[in-house]
Amino acid sequence: MSEEELSESIKFEAEQYVPFDIEDVNIDFQILGPTEEPGQMDVMLVAVKKDVIGEYVTVAREAGLNPVVMDVDAFALSNMYEVNYEIEPGRNIALVNIGAATINLNVVKNGIPIFTRDSSVGTNTVTEALQKEFNLPYEVAERLLRGQEVEGASPEDAHPVMVSAYEEILAEVVRSIEYFQTTALHEELSEILLSGGGALLSGLPQALAERAGVEVKVAEPFRNIIIPKRFDRAYIEEVAPLAAVAVGLALRRPLDR
Ligand SMILES: Nc1ncnc2c1ncn2[C@@H]1O[C@H](COP(=O)(O)OP(=O)(O)OP(=O)(O)O)[C@@H](O)[C@H]1O
Ligand SMILES: [Mg+2]
Repeated sequence: MSEEELSESIKFEAEQYVPFDIEDVNIDFQILGPTEEPGQMDVMLVAVKKDVIGEYVTVAREAGLNPVVMDVDAFALSNMYEVNYEIEPGRNIALVNIGAATINLNVVKNGIPIFTRDSSVGTNTVTEALQKEFNLPYEVAERLLRGQEVEGASPEDAHPVMVSAYEEILAEVVRSIEYFQTTALHEELSEILLSGGGALLSGLPQALAERAGVEVKVAEPFRNIIIPKRFDRAYIEEVAPLAAVAVGLALRRPLDR
């Protein structure tokens, strides 16, 4: 099928994969390439409920912005990866983004996403553990989590509490990797490229490497991006892993594929 023919039939094809009424979702697709079976091709399908899209559009408009492209975290991550890293043929790289309330995992091979999974665990579990242990309000616990001294607790006091709270996050990432290995017919993972707030938590990248048994690198989303002098380079470097999804989104242009 050509792209045009596919566009016509995709809605019908999509119905069997989308667990909602097809009229309630917006769908888009990308042809990934031919499969080993002759006459067949792999197509990546994305479906988002229209009311979810509506909420995001409203937020952007209320902020005075005009949204032109909407993307999914996992694919924004692979665009960030593509612009900053060389493709390493045959290697499976897991782009893992640990946010406040979500973890996105996207395994890319030869520059193409081959497996994605989102989970609703994130750095909030660490913040909550600190709140409980030291009886702190959220904002104060967040400062402690970033390694600052707060009234009632030092980073040294916080360390063991944080490390035990990492457990839930690590277990979830490992679970996603295991799903990948089962669905991808036992393909091995070559490396994890870690981003999101989780990448900035003291000792978390090392703990993940140990738990997952694979090398973990912290993402550098601005590696190949020229930053104008008027921006504070030191600050950008410090928080760069937080910008992985934002960089991937900013690379998109209307109508591109
Ligand atoms: N230096 C830092 N600055 C900001 N947040 C940090 C820092 N270090 C660790 N964090 C943690 O990272 C979290 C934010 O990470 P991130 O920006 O990836 O999440 P998010 O995209 O807002 O959340 P989600 O993806 O779950 O919607 C904060 O809530 C905080 O707990
Ligand atoms: Mg996020």
